[in-house]
Amino acid sequence: MAIQSRRISGILSVAASAALLSHALSVQSIPYAWNNVRIGGGGGFVPNIIFNPTKKGVAYARTDIGAAYRLNPDDSWTPLLDFANDTHWNFWGSDALATDPVDTDKVYIAAGMYTNSWDPSNGHILKSTNKGDNWEAFPLPFKVGGNMPGRGVGERLAIDPNNNKILYLGARSGKGLWKSVDAGETWTNVTNFPSVGTYIQDPSDSSGYTSDIIGITWVTFDKNSKTPSGSSRIFVGVANLGSDNVFVTTDSGATWEALAGQDNTFMSHKGVLSPAENALYLSYANGAGPFDGTEGYVKKFFIGNSSWLDITPTPGAGYGYGGLAVDLQKPGTIMVAPLNEWWPDSDIMRSTDGGATWSSIFNWGYPPPNYVGTRTPFYNYDVSRAPWISTFATGDTKQIGWMIEGLSIDPHDSDHWLYGTGLTVYGGHDLTNWDANPRKNITVASLATGLEETAVLDLTAPISGPLLISAVGDVGGFVHSDLTKPSPTFTNPIWAGTVTGVDHAGASPGFIVRVSGISGGGIPMATSSDGGQTWAPYSAAPTTANGGKVAISANGDTILWTQANGLSGVQVSANGAPFAAASGLPSGAIIASDKLNNSVFYSASGSKLFVSTNGGVSFTQTTTLGNANSANAIAVNPFTAGALFISTNVGIFHSTDFGKTLTQISGVSNAWSIALGAPKTSGGTPALFVAGTIKGVKSLYKTDDLGTTWNKLADAKHGFASTANMVLAADKRTYGQVFVGTNGRGIFYGVPRSS
Ligand SMILES: *[C@@H]1O[C@H](CO)[C@@H](O)[C@H](O)[C@H]1NC(C)=O
Ligand SMILES: *[C@@H]1O[C@H](CO)[C@@H](O)[C@H](O)[C@H]1NC(C)=O
Ligand SMILES: *[C@@H]1O[C@H](CO)[C@@H](O)[C@H](O)[C@H]1NC(C)=O
Ligand SMILES: *[C@@H]1O[C@H](CO)[C@@H](O)[C@H](O)[C@H]1NC(C)=O
Ligand SMILES: *[C@@H]1O[C@H](CO)[C@@H](O)[C@H](O)[C@H]1NC(C)=O
Repeated sequence: MAIQSRRISGILSVAASAALLSHALSVQSIPYAWNNVRIGGGGGFVPNIIFNPTKKGVAYARTDIGAAYRLNPDDSWTPLLDFANDTHWNFWGSDALATDPVDTDKVYIAAGMYTNSWDPSNGHILKSTNKGDNWEAFPLPFKVGGNMPGRGVGERLAIDPNNNKILYLGARSGKGLWKSVDAGETWTNVTNFPSVGTYIQDPSDSSGYTSDIIGITWVTFDKNSKTPSGSSRIFVGVANLGSDNVFVTTDSGATWEALAGQDNTFMSHKGVLSPAENALYLSYANGAGPFDGTEGYVKKFFIGNSSWLDITPTPGAGYGYGGLAVDLQKPGTIMVAPLNEWWPDSDIMRSTDGGATWSSIFNWGYPPPNYVGTRTPFYNYDVSRAPWISTFATGDTKQIGWMIEGLSIDPHDSDHWLYGTGLTVYGGHDLTNWDANPRKNITVASLATGLEETAVLDLTAPISGPLLISAVGDVGGFVHSDLTKPSPTFTNPIWAGTVTGVDHAGASPGFIVRVSGISGGGIPMATSSDGGQTWAPYSAAPTTANGGKVAISANGDTILWTQANGLSGVQVSANGAPFAAASGLPSGAIIASDKLNNSVFYSASGSKLFVSTNGGVSFTQTTTLGNANSANAIAVNPFTAGALFISTNVGIFHSTDFGKTLTQISGVSNAWSIALGAPKTSGGTPALFVAGTIKGVKSLYKTDDLGTTWNKLADAKHGFASTANMVLAADKRTYGQVFVGTNGRGIFYGVPRSS
């Protein structure tokens, strides 16, 4: 079946700055300068790193929810998909990437986030002819799952090196193998391909997330099989456990068959060609990844005589294999990584004789009986570019990593290698030290500068002290006084995982509270009285609870806690006393503290607004938020007691009398995160920043006059993806400066551009 595709126009065009004007409502795009708040790079899974085989210096990294990046000569990365706005938020899911071996400026991404209901949209092939500076999008007739199980296999998207108009894409969900003959613009189902895949991680998952078919895992063209119309031999991996899972055509796709002699006990994650050896190397695991795999092997298939060789470095070691790299400059030099060797750390193995013998990145005398218990690393560990990792690593002692599916040696430089983990990108420029006799250390350095891929859960911007304190998924959070410098992460406690909530005391801004999303991680709350430089566990927080959001009173002595796991309803603790129920509030209510009056807290749920005037002990409903059925966020004026804004699914409400009465802000029909920053004129109305819908467009807006006029701050190059997932905070010192936390692309900060 051929699907007639349609180009999505507009992505190439320059910012449409035409004002959307109506009699009632003025919305004008204004120019903003946007940058990432620099954390140091990483902060999430990097499923693969893909070098161009032909052109030195061309390489890309793809991530699961944080889009894709291009490598720069100084080891930093340039983000490529920041244009994605709410319409195409799923573009930040990169399930596969292919760099063209012929037209080396061309690059393609199979983009889409989920194949279940969490993502309503089909996938797209994103195509660039200038290494990712601009893109065109070509719709696919099925979903693509950049953040689905099995996202580290691949690549599922490949370009024929002997005819670069031919691309293959392996689909998920039983949709099969697809082919394009017009350089990725239209796609046809390869209906004679024998298998769409049967493996499912967990058939019982009713959400559809782990119960979808993983599908086709990788496509590898045999460069040596050149014909006038393209490669005749193409290998394809499929997620089948216990039945044939590597297929081949030798007649350019006219017929396909299972590769003879294969051992199908496990599934192949990678199939990497070594053209000079006329061999295909394959890594296998018994799970699709990225978190699993307890068994596996590594195989070598000799194309010349169709024979297989088992080259597993550590048979029966208790893990599967993921990352697999060949050194194209040194045929027979290969590397593999366990997919998940959870303890004591991941190994990485290297062979210079085609897999006959292997050596490890550390010496551990494993497996028994040679076990010696202490590791001798053959590497120098350097996380100077991302100091947060050294703090994190004292809570999680693994250095080499986990979820290692992306392992690559630069095809043009045997010393240059990169690999992706669940945490970041590591690599170095002295890899051949490994082969010295006697052995010399290599460098394992965090090399993810610019690849900011944290998922941001909460932000607070105090009126003095640090500019910004963040709570992020998986890796904790950061205190930034200088937005351009990497920040260390929190200590005492470290938690080494998600921080879900953070707040500062408005009248005593050095007082900060943060709450951990880690279950079983000890005391789940911590406070600071010096602007986040030092912390102490807040021992009133029960170790049986975690997560949720926090609000700290204006003077910093009272903490309100909502939406926590293991805690019933909304609870309050003053001066270190045990948490007790805040009466009068429904479970799950959103909360905020007055920033100047220590006794006052606000809360909302559904259409109800509640206020406490006794330090959160009890709340009473003051009024109703129109006909809202979802109260989403409360932003409290940092300069005036009793002034606040509440965002809801029917717009934004404003109160200047401690929540007694409300007026609705005009123009906004639905709003999520909101934030208040320094006013345009001293003493004036604070700037109000809104992630919301105005005139039907979900985006990031600002108003300086309570909604009479609106500025659209997102532009054609900065879309921030999902509006509902934006987390906003605003600078109380510098007019117009706003912080935008994203779900996967870290934190942006923007200031109005002059002229
Ligand atoms: C997102 O960008 C596209 C392409 O520029 C544009 O057509 C669309 O209207 C934008 N959507 C939003 C919600 O801004
Ligand atoms: C593509 O072809 C396969 C047969 O290989 C078939 O099972 C699958 O349903 C087809 N997919 C679509 C979306 O038509
Ligand atoms: C197949 O070819 C390879 C490479 O020439 C060789 O090393 C191997 O021994 C051969 N295997 C068999 C079974 O002939
Ligand atoms: C290699 O690095 C490790 C860890 O940094 C260090 O203990 C060891 O002495 C180094 N070995 C050499 C030969 O430099
Ligand atoms: C703070 O609010 C409480 C309760 O409304 C009020 O009694 C008190 O006077 C306020 N404090 C100040 C300093 O305004």
